[in-house]
Amino acid sequence: MPDSESEPKNKVSDLVALSRVSAATSNLQDLEAILRIGLNSVLDIMDGSIGGIMLLDEETKMLSYRVYHGLSATYAEEMHVKLGEGIAGKVAQSGRSTLLEDISLEPSAVRLDLISTEGLKAFLSVPLQAKGKVLGVMNVASRISHRFSKWDMHLLNSIGDQLGVAIEQAKLYEQLRRGRERYRELARRTLLAQEEERRRIARELHDETSQALSGLALNLEVLIEMAEIAGIQDTEFKARLKKTHSLAIQISTEVSRLIADLRPSALDTLGLVPAIRQCAETNLTSLGIDVSFALNQVQVGKSLPAEVEVGLFRWAQGAIANIMQHSQARNATISLKREGDELVLCINDDGKGFDVSQLSGIEESGRGAGLFSMKERVQLLGGTCSIQSQPGQGTTATARIPMTWSTADAKDKSIGGR
Ligand SMILES: Nc1ncnc2c1ncn2[C@@H]1O[C@H](COP(=O)(O)OP(=O)(O)OP(=O)(O)O)[C@@H](O)[C@H]1O
Ligand SMILES: [Mg+2]
Repeated sequence: MPDSESEPKNKVSDLVALSRVSAATSNLQDLEAILRIGLNSVLDIMDGSIGGIMLLDEETKMLSYRVYHGLSATYAEEMHVKLGEGIAGKVAQSGRSTLLEDISLEPSAVRLDLISTEGLKAFLSVPLQAKGKVLGVMNVASRISHRFSKWDMHLLNSIGDQLGVAIEQAKLYEQLRRGRERYRELARRTLLAQEEERRRIARELHDETSQALSGLALNLEVLIEMAEIAGIQDTEFKARLKKTHSLAIQISTEVSRLIADLRPSALDTLGLVPAIRQCAETNLTSLGIDVSFALNQVQVGKSLPAEVEVGLFRWAQGAIANIMQHSQARNATISLKREGDELVLCINDDGKGFDVSQLSGIEESGRGAGLFSMKERVQLLGGTCSIQSQPGQGTTATARIPMTWSTADAKDKSIGGR
C-alpha cells in the first residue's frame, strides 16, 4: 500500500495524466461522451476499475450517477445523495476532496447497505467544479482498503477541475443547442402558420374580391354598351364610365397578381417546377430578362413533401425578387437537379452583383432580411443555402436540400411537374 507523503510521485507523470484527460475531452461537446471518456481516462491513469461520476441536479439538489464503471446497475441507480449528505454530498457542498481508507466503516456514509453489497472499501471523491460552482463529483473506489494515496487524491482533484470546465462547456453547448432547436421549431411553426394564412387570404381574395371585381367590370361593360345603344351624347359621362371600367380591370389584375404572390395556384395544382417557371416568367421575362430553365430532368425517385415544395418555392421567389429588384441582369438561369442524395436548386443572373462579405446580417433598413429568410427556409428543411456574388460578376443563389423524406411525408406526385 503506497503512503502518500512517503511517495512523492513524479510530477511529470501527473502532468502527462492531466494532458491525457484534457486531450481526450477537449474536442468533445457531448456531455455523455465527456463523462464517459473522462471516467475511463481516470480509471486508466489510476490503474483502477471502479468509479463513477455523479452530477448535481440544480433543482432537486440531488447527486446521481450519470456514468459508472465496475459498479452494479442497482448501486448506480439507487445511490442518490442529497447535497450536504453522505460522502459525495459533503464533497459537492464543500468543494473539498475526501479520501477514505474504508468507506464501509464510515458512519457518515449513506446507503451503507449498497456499499457493503458492492464490497467497496477505499474511496476517493473529488468535486467537479467550474467557476467556483460545483457541478458534481467524481468517485473512484476499490474493494481493497487503503488503496489510494494523497497523491492520487491531488491528481484526481486536478483532473476533476479540468473535467469540471469541460462539463460546464458541454452544458452550455447543450443549452445553446436546445435553444437553437426551440428557435427552429418556432420558426417552422411561424412559417407554416404564415403559409396557412396566406393561403386563406388568397382563397378569400379569389372567391370574394376577385369575383366581385369581375362582376363590377362586366356591369360597367354592359353600361358602356347600354349608353351606346341609348345614344347618350354626354362625352364626359361616357369617358368617366370607360375610365371606371378600365380601373376595375386594373384593380382586378392587381388582385390576381396579389393572389399569385400569396399562394400561386400553380403550386397547388401543378407543383413546384411549373410554379417556379410561372413566377420567373411573370416577374423576369416581363422585364426583358431572358430566363433559361433546366427544371424538368430531375429524377428524384420520390415525390416532394409539401413542406419542401413550399419552402423551395418561397426560396426561389426571394431569389427571383432580388434579380428583379437589384440585378439589372439580362439573363438568368434556373436549374433544379439531383446531386447524390441532395436536391439542388440554383438561380443565377449575369447582373451587377454585390459584395456578399459586406452584408453580414439584417441592416436597419431591412436590407438583408430577404436573404436571411431564404437561408432560414432552407435550413429548416435541413439544407444549406449559399449566395455567391461579386460586384460586376452576377449572383448565384444555391439551395441544397438532403432528400431524406419518406414517401409517407410526400405528396402523391412527381417533382418534374404534372
Ligand atoms: N441578384 C442580385 N443582384 C444584385 N444585388 C443583389 C442580388 N440579390 C441580393 N442583392 C443585394 O443584396 C441585398 C440584400 O438582399 P435581400 O433580399 O436580403 O434584401 P432586399 O432585397 O434589399 O430586401 P427584401 O428582400 O426584404 O425586399 C440587396 O439589397 C442587394 O443589394
Ligand atoms: Mg430581397
